[in-house]
Formats: sequence, structure tokens, C-alpha cells
Amino acid sequence: MSKTIIVTGGAGFIGSNFVFLMLERHKDYRIVCLDKLTYAGNLSTLEPVMDNPKFRFVKADICDRDAVYKLFEEEKPDIVVNFAAESHVDRSIEDPGIFLETNIMGTATLMDACRKYGIERYHQVSTDEVYGDLPLDRPDLFFTEETPIHTSSPYSSSKAAADLLVLAYHRTYGLPVTISRCSNNYGPYHFPEKLIPLMIANALAGKPLPVYGEGLNVRDWLYVEDHCKAIDLIIHNGRVGEVYNIGGHNEKTNIYIVKKILELLGKPESLITYVTDRKGHDLRYAIDPTKIHNELGWLPETMFDDGIVKTVQWYLDNKSWWENIISGEYQQYYEKMYGDR
Ligand code: NAD
Ligand code: DAU
Repeated sequence: MSKTIIVTGGAGFIGSNFVFLMLERHKDYRIVCLDKLTYAGNLSTLEPVMDNPKFRFVKADICDRDAVYKLFEEEKPDIVVNFAAESHVDRSIEDPGIFLETNIMGTATLMDACRKYGIERYHQVSTDEVYGDLPLDRPDLFFTEETPIHTSSPYSSSKAAADLLVLAYHRTYGLPVTISRCSNNYGPYHFPEKLIPLMIANALAGKPLPVYGEGLNVRDWLYVEDHCKAIDLIIHNGRVGEVYNIGGHNEKTNIYIVKKILELLGKPESLITYVTDRKGHDLRYAIDPTKIHNELGWLPETMFDDGIVKTVQWYLDNKSWWENIISGEYQQYYEKMYGDR
């Protein structure tokens, strides 16, 4: 059956990959992307689908109630998937305000629209960072959906606040919601301020690779398409009111990732530069994906050794995409963050 889905943040990294997947998989669906086009949103990413009659792009802020309500009136969406967020931990440490506004107030505004106009499902794209971190010396511990919320950064706190609000709208107003909490994604269209694309870009430019602390923090990496497929399953088959963790048991230290990228690009490890650690730096993330596997049959399809090769190749084949970003506003950000670190 045909459906209309509003995808917020669809000009960003994961949102754009989700838009492509949905248009490919559900040919009779209408996909409407609502995006403010912040520094992290890139309309050129959506160029391949701009002329698709099943796709519409609308530039708007999820905090702008009038614009959001107008779009709901026009489109009468069946499903809303909220990717829109300020997503970079380091930026949240520098300037928390916009994180609270977009990630919390924006979520509330979207859900108010869902209440007013009626929807089949509101899906909140959350993060494993709401669980805080795990110690490095306890490899037996994983985040389950029952792990208490325990955040470290303004970013993760704003995402946790949004999650609580989503669950409150379900309990109080009966809004049909689901939440997914995924581990670190990697793949095409990843903004070059995040670890993997930043290291690829710097290595190719022969610039130092800034590793925080000793590079021993652990992240649990998942290929972005696997995350998008999990969300597709949840919005269609997931149980209302439930939280689903998404992750593929792929824990790596940051230094392992950086060395792997250098190896794949044939660049020397002498480019590695250890810099001052991130404030409040979470030690280890590790997802237990048992629930989504048992209930919805989800399993990751791309293993890290293949995914990282595909990703590095994508950055080699799509230099203009990230070089354009690096030559813009991001340039000033980079100077500010790494200039005298
Ligand atoms: P991103 O920063 O690449 O993209 C965010 C997008 O949201 C951009 O297109 C931006 O223009 C848009 N946006 C920002 N503020 C907006 C606003 N007020 N109104 C409308 N649009 C706005 O982020 P990402 O890495 O693709 O992450 C997407 C979502 O997934 C976020 O909610 C994030 O918390 C979550 N998440 C990310 C990861 C990861 O590894 N990147 C992992 C788990 C969860
Ligand atoms: O776990 C999911 C989260 O993953 C998402 O919710 C966030 O939106 C997403 O940005 C990501 O957060 P991280 O902080 O884990 O990602 P980031 O790429 O910023 O950093 C990954 C690790 O690499 C982290 O331990 C910090 C380290 N790092 C990062 C940068 C940018 C470095 O050592 N050097 C760097 O220059």
C-alpha cells in the first residue's frame, strides 16, 4: 500500500542514505524530505533523486511550528522518521544551546504536528550515546534497551531528553511511536568532521591525523545501509512504544580505525598525531542487538572489512563532494577546533 513518509534531516549523512534506500525499496511510497540545511545538510547529496516524482524536498526547520504544520497539512504523512539533529559531540561541547533547541524542541514540535494531524507512526532516530559509556576492562558488558540512561555530553543529553519526551507522548497522548538507538555509523556522505571521513580526508591531503588521547576509546561501527534497513523494519513491523537497539558487534579502538585507513590508502603512520582528549570522552560503546534480531529478524549485512574498503573507495571516487564541504564554513570550524590543540 502506498504511504507518505516525512524524513527529517534527509540531507545529512544517515538521512540521505535512508531516502535513497526507501525510494529504491518502496517504489509506490512518497518520500518528503524536510531539512533546514545547516552546515551538515547538503542538497547536492540529494541531487540523484531531486527529479524523482516520488520525492519532494522542503527546506525548513523542525523547530518552526508554522512550517512543520503547513507541511503536514499539505502532505498528510502516514509516517514521520526524525533524523534531524545537531549530531557532533565536539560541537555540543563548544556550544550546547542549538543542540537543546533542535534535538529537544524540534522533536516536540514534530510530535505536536503528529498529534494534531494524526499519523500511523512517529519514529525517533536516537543513539547508543544515551546509555553513556562502558568500562574498557569489561568486554562482557553491552548496552541493552534496559540499560539506564546515563549521558556524558550535551549532545547525548539532548538526545536522551528527546527520547524521554517521545516515550512521554506515547504514554500521555497515545502517540504511536518507536525509537531506535544505533551505534556509530560509517559509509557514503559522512560529514568530514567525524572520525572516519576526517581521517580519510586528512590522510589524502598528507595532513596530521588528530587522534584524541591515546586512541584507545572503543566505538561499535555499523555500515550506514544496515542502520537504514533496520529503521525500515522498525517503522513497518516494530511494536509501538518500544525501543530497539541497533548494532553489529563490531567494536574497534579509534587507533585501529585510523591505522586501517592509512593502510588502505597506502599512507604512513607517521601522520598520526595524538592531541588533547575530548572533554568527558566516553570510553566504550557496545550494543546488544538481540531484541531487534529476535523480534524483527534484523542482522547486519555488511561486515566491517568490506564496509571500510567500500567507504574509503567512495571517498576516493567522490572527492568533489567532500572537498566542497572542506573549502566552506567547515574550514573555520577546523581551525578553531584543531588550531592549537
Ligand atoms: P548529520 O549531522 O549528518 O545530519 C543532520 C541533518 O539534520 C542535516 O541534514 C541537517 O541540515 C539537518 N538538521 C539539523 N538541524 C535541523 C533542524 N533544526 N531542522 C531541520 N533539519 C535539521 O547527522 P547524522 O550523522 O546523519 O545523524 C542523523 C541522526 O542519527 C541524528 O539524530 C543522530 O543523533 C542519529 N545517530 C547518528 C549516528 C552516527 O553515527 N552518525 C549514530 C546513531 C544515531
Ligand atoms: O554512537 C553514535 C554516535 O556516534 C552518534 O550519536 C553521533 O551523532 C556520532 O557523531 C558518533 O559520535 P562519536 O563521538 O562516537 O563520533 P566521532 O566521529 O566524533 O568520534 C569517534 C571517536 O573518534 C571518538 O572516540 C572520538 C574520536 N575522535 C574523533 C575525532 C573527530 C578522534 O580521536 N579524533 C577526531 O578528530
